[in-house]
Parts: sequence; C-alpha cells; structure tokens
Amino acid sequence: MERELALEVVRVTELAALESASWNGKGDKNHADAAATSAMRTMFDSMSIKGTVVIGEGEMDEAPMLYIGEKLGNQQGPEVDVAVDPLEGTSLVAKGLNNALSVIAISNKGNLLHAPDMYMEKLAVGPALAGKLDLLDPVEVTLSKAATALKKKVSDLSVMVLDRERHQTLIQALRDNGVRIKFLSDGDVEGAIATAFPETGIDLYLGSGGAPEGVLAAAALKCLGGDFQGRLIPENQIQYDRCVAMGLQNPLKVLTMEDLVGNDDVIFAATGVTNGEFLKGVSFLPNQQAETHSVVMRAQTRTIRFIKTIHYLPIKAGHHEIVFA
Ligand code: FBP
Repeated sequence: MERELALEVVRVTELAALESASWNGKGDKNHADAAATSAMRTMFDSMSIKGTVVIGEGEMDEAPMLYIGEKLGNQQGPEVDVAVDPLEGTSLVAKGLNNALSVIAISNKGNLLHAPDMYMEKLAVGPALAGKLDLLDPVEVTLSKAATALKKKVSDLSVMVLDRERHQTLIQALRDNGVRIKFLSDGDVEGAIATAFPETGIDLYLGSGGAPEGVLAAAALKCLGGDFQGRLIPENQIQYDRCVAMGLQNPLKVLTMEDLVGNDDVIFAATGVTNGEFLKGVSFLPNQQAETHSVVMRAQTRTIRFIKTIHYLPIKAGHHEIVFA
C-alpha cells in the first residue's frame, strides 16, 4: 500500500471523531454512533482505494453503512481490506466518559481475520512482552512470566481489564497476586493498545471483549511491535457454526498475531473522541474551530505519527457538508 494512504486515512477518523464528539454526554449512544458512521462513510468516498469492509458495523441486512462486504473508496487505488469502528465506546460518548476512539485498519486483501461478532478472550502486550506470554497459561503464570521479563515484582505490574461481571474470577486472581488493576468501563481497543505506550504504565491487557475489536487492536499492536493473542468464545452451536462458515476450521484455537493480521502491510489510524490513555479527545474551541488528536502507524516501517489538527467547522467532505449536532 502507498504510504500516502496513512495521511488520507487519518482524515477519515478525524471526521468521525469530530462528529461523534458533538454527541458527548448527551445520553444517546445510537446517534453518536450513527454520526460517526455516516461521517466516516462520506469521507471514504474520496480515498484512493478499492476497499472492502471486512470488519464493520454489522452484516448488510443489519447496518445501513460500513456493513461487511461494502465497497469503499473511489475505486482508483490498491485493493485493500478495511476494518472500521467509527465509534469504539458508544456508551462512553453517551455518558461523556474517557477512552472513546474512532478507529480504522487498512491492509492488503485477505490479510485481516474476518472476525465474527462474538466475544473473544484477549491477551495484549507491548513490545517488551511480545512473544513472552501464552493466553492458555493460568493468570498467575502469566503474571510471573511478565514480571520476570520486565524485571519487576508481580505487585508492580499494572493490568487493564474491562469492568464486567464475567471477569470476577480473573479480577480475583489478579487481586490475589497483588497487581494493580486499571478498569475500563468500555473501549477495549484503547485498553489493548495502551500496553504499547510506556507512558500509560499499563503492562498487560486481559479479559474478554468483542472479537472485531480484537482484530483492530491486533492491527495496532502489529504496527507497534506488541503482541495480541485471542480465542473466540462461541456461546452456542449457531455461533460455533458461524466461525466454521467464516473459514475457522477450529474456532476454539488460540489465534496468534499471524492469524489475526497476516503480514505487515497494515496501516492503523485512531482519533480520540474523548480523552484517553494515549490520545486526547476532541476539543471544541472558540471561533468555530475544533482540535483533534490522532495516531497513524504503518507496520512496515513501525512509524508512529501523532497528529494534532485544528479544524474549521463545518467541514466540507467531498460534495457533502458535515453538519454538527
Ligand atoms: P461499542 O462501542 O460497540 O459499544 O463497544 C464497546 C465495547 O466496550 C468494546 O470495546 C468491547 O470489546 C465490547 O464493548 C465489550 O462488550 P460488552 O459490553 O458486552 O462487555
């Protein structure tokens, strides 16, 4: 893929973030999500790609835009697979809470796992722990291996976990081992990626969340030199059969980085919607201006660009004028 795509793609997450941020704290996650989705879809029209959505807002009959299989771009550039989450953390925006992002990963065709919409058990780490841990290990073994590799005491480790009832056993095991826990109320793409930014102080991300979000986090960690392992959790025969129909011979196998994101022809971009661990959220400024903070990365070169942008509102995207809530 052309490296210029990296800058084009960040314009797409910026606009989606701006649109959804105008719904911040308004108690309406559906409108916040719809605003991000429609802005992202509009902005994709001007991108020089022949894109196909492989991770999106749902199946064609469930989602009006950015559905799986939808063609994106002006059909003039490379053939790419596109994974999107226009608003990762819809409830966070509805409640005006931290950690909401707008996210895209773009890759050469066939390189991203087409993850079904179900839960996935996840283990994410930054470069210092890449290749050193195993999702199948008991938690205490994982913590001990991580502490050894990082030359820390187990009690000095910080682990991020989604605050969910289903994680009670995991949380108890973490507490029994004396580690620090940072809870997320939503938004585990942010949690997984945070492990690769030392300034966050997060060493590991553990627990289950959405499988599509797992592929997006894996794409980011591929660019950052981190690691991601996942295991799908089909909850019934229908979900199990869906995995098989999507090409996973053994739906219960541990998915490694290579299974999730095959090679390093990947670009990942995220713009903060609300303040997060490694990106600030959208600020609406006086004089019809707004500020966004984004990261855009390429796995091939491991370049990480942080982009602060001042926008003048309203924004014209192609033939459309984006109207803010
Ligand atoms: P949405 O943006 O679709 O609301 O997802 C938020 C999220 O917290 C994801 O980050 C996470 O993977 C998933 O939901 C967890 O699901 P659940 O809320 O069912 O535990």
